[in-house]
Amino acid sequence: ASYDMGGHDTFMHKEISEQPDAVDRVLRGRIDDRFSTVHLGGLNLDPREARTIRRIKILGCGTSYHAGLIGAGLIESMARIPADAEPASEFRYRNPVVDPDTLYVAVSQSGETYDVLAAVQELKRKGARVLGVVNVVGSAIAREADGGVYVHAGPEVCVVSTKCFTNTVTAFALLALHLGRIRDLSVTDGKRIIEGLRRLPAQIEEILKGEDEIKRLAEVYAGAQSMMFIGRVRGYPVALEASLKLKEISYIHAEAYPASELKHGPLALIEPALPTVAIVPDDDLLEKNRAALEEIKARSGRILAVAHQPQEKADHTILVPKNEDELDPILMGIPLQLFAYHTALAMGRDIDKPRNLAKSVTVE
Ligand code: AGP
Repeated sequence: ASYDMGGHDTFMHKEISEQPDAVDRVLRGRIDDRFSTVHLGGLNLDPREARTIRRIKILGCGTSYHAGLIGAGLIESMARIPADAEPASEFRYRNPVVDPDTLYVAVSQSGETYDVLAAVQELKRKGARVLGVVNVVGSAIAREADGGVYVHAGPEVCVVSTKCFTNTVTAFALLALHLGRIRDLSVTDGKRIIEGLRRLPAQIEEILKGEDEIKRLAEVYAGAQSMMFIGRVRGYPVALEASLKLKEISYIHAEAYPASELKHGPLALIEPALPTVAIVPDDDLLEKNRAALEEIKARSGRILAVAHQPQEKADHTILVPKNEDELDPILMGIPLQLFAYHTALAMGRDIDKPRNLAKSVTVE
């Protein structure tokens, strides 16, 4: 199919701009206010079964793996089911123990990524229950899975994923809420999350309005040889995804670290030539994150914070509207999509088709 850019210069910019509508679509028709939960028609998992799940293992590659990491955090916090994410490409080659009480979740925008598909097929052959969190309806992974959640981001043309990442994470919030309300999440917490979900489209709109300022900051940092991205717990996968995005389209080397790990090694790299992008939400870890900023500043490192309030130690702060703590990662990634975009643009890169990459990797 061919799609047009609708007045934008690139598909990436178009797709970033579509996020308020895209998130609206993933929520539409799924919220049940009466029971403060969500209905996921294609899940194919009855409540009795949902109560017997002992673990959740999420599998995906690249950006979808990062969405899965945030998803695992959402499931642990809302449903209190131990959950983790792993690159599907690693999982399938380490002869994993396939456990009957574990629910496996395969994440893929295209639904065609070979490493993910092969992991799903191996799991199914061993009798595991596998759900899909997929964008493309009727794709190979969607067909192979026992059930799942469509993320309804709409067609994504740019090689790097933006709106699909945001929608996938939102779909995980829905799955976490659904499982949580079958298990121990209270009615009031369910209601709090639902209200938070409903605020997302307008808050994304607000972030997008800050594009000119983000562009200005991107031009300030565009000369860097390398960048460090840090975050803690919920913020760490946001840092991972933001660093991947920057690498993919600007070709600036970037790495992401948990803020807590800085002192165990990467602090040695900090100097004025290595700027740090720090994810600093207003949550229970705010003071811990501030301490990391101080450590970086003490080594003359430049800091760009993505935060809910101005950060004194940072050279620049991109302010993001606050949502519920659990849902903040959905919003905090969005300004960094624009940051990567404008950095790449300032460097004259071919944004929609970065060198050496394909939209989906359908071969081994
Ligand atoms: C493009 O390079 C993407 N950023 C890439 O990491 C992608 O997320 C990965 O290849 C998985 O694709 P999928 O979501 O279609 O399975």
